Amino acid sequence: MSHDLLDVATFAAGHPHDVYRRLREEVPVHWNPEPDGPGFWALTRYDDVYAVDHDFQAYSSSPTILIQDPLSANDGAIGEAKMMLMIDPPQHTAFRKLIRAEFTKPKAAEKGLRLDELARQIVNDVIERGECDFVADVAGEMPSYVIAELMGLPLEDGRELYKLTEIIHSAPDTMPPNAIPDAVTKMFGYAAGVIAEKRARPADDLATRLLTVEVEGRRLTDPEFLLFFMLLVDAGGDTTRNLLSGGMLALTRNPAQRAWLMDDLPGRLASAREEMLRYTSPVIYMRRTATRDTQIRDAAIKAGDKVVMYFGAANRDPEKFDAPDAFDLARAPNEHIAFGGGPHVCLGQHLARLEIDAVLIEVLTRMENFEIPRDPEWLASTFISGPKSMPVRFTPGRRI
Ligand code: HEM
Repeated sequence: MSHDLLDVATFAAGHPHDVYRRLREEVPVHWNPEPDGPGFWALTRYDDVYAVDHDFQAYSSSPTILIQDPLSANDGAIGEAKMMLMIDPPQHTAFRKLIRAEFTKPKAAEKGLRLDELARQIVNDVIERGECDFVADVAGEMPSYVIAELMGLPLEDGRELYKLTEIIHSAPDTMPPNAIPDAVTKMFGYAAGVIAEKRARPADDLATRLLTVEVEGRRLTDPEFLLFFMLLVDAGGDTTRNLLSGGMLALTRNPAQRAWLMDDLPGRLASAREEMLRYTSPVIYMRRTATRDTQIRDAAIKAGDKVVMYFGAANRDPEKFDAPDAFDLARAPNEHIAFGGGPHVCLGQHLARLEIDAVLIEVLTRMENFEIPRDPEWLASTFISGPKSMPVRFTPGRRI
């Protein structure tokens, strides 16, 4: 097995928990070389990941949160404008304030009813068939719907945008040349159309609000809007999908846990979902860049060094979690770090939880005798973890 955290083969069967374990125990601040770059520090212990994520003064999100430095202006920046994910406080705080109100717990809860309807519709579309690809037909449908609903776009466009994010998140060496920049260009082209449409016909949706709201006494520029749009589409898509697919895989492979959950689904779902988040950790890493010489354990970090936080490894740290490799739906406490932490902690986490719960309830109560006949192929990515496709079987049921 490859130990190189830059090699997609290392992640070919999901998070490389054996590699993580060895690093956590032997070299918790591990230097991983890069063939076309300076190399980076890989953090695998919970406390180190937590500390770096919270210390934005010593560890900056700029120039990028991906390991490879930006290759072109398309990677999270257009001219002077940068994506919120890649800027530090205080500028980041001002941007985040702009959309924070849309993503609070109560605001997300207002969407609850609609999400339940969407989940019912998604399961309706496959229930009579008795088989489907869970990733594309069920798990991926929810975030496509949600982004379309949030932004006030046709549902079909939500699906198209979501396909583009899949390309953008793939490891570059697994894609045809230019596939990723082309997908970024298409996404920006689409978002430019949204600007024109929402300016001509303002509506009660997030896209219109982003175009009219003011940050530090001025409106967002068009490039800033394009980047916001891309971030929201990007961040909420394959993350939520992978949690649902990976979560159902873990549940199906652990029948005793499933039985425990089904004994009191409404009462146990929240705890089960948090364990799915910890256990599957859909975001593999976020990178920071040291702003000054500093130290993590006995490693001397130099200003400019890349420091990479491995969330899936932190989430299995035995110093933080008892029996960390057990899928224990009743786990308490469960202070997982699947949504990150610090100033950039996942803005969509409340919405994500509602999306997940809505889909899980429909799937678990309607798709009887749910089976995953063979282990799924995993996504070719060192950044986002989850099954690429997952054929499933169940007893055909009726539409509701
Ligand atoms: C299971 C689903 C999800 C997971 C596991 C996840 C995970 C994450 C992680 C790890 C981060 C980085 C945090 C850090 O740097 O410490 C993040 C940031 C972010 N997420 Fe999520 N996310 C999910 C769903 C969503 C959804 C549904 C949305 C919105 C529609 C969303 C919007 C965002 C945004 C906007 C950021 C950037 C925040 C900032 O830079 O201040 N996420 N997410």
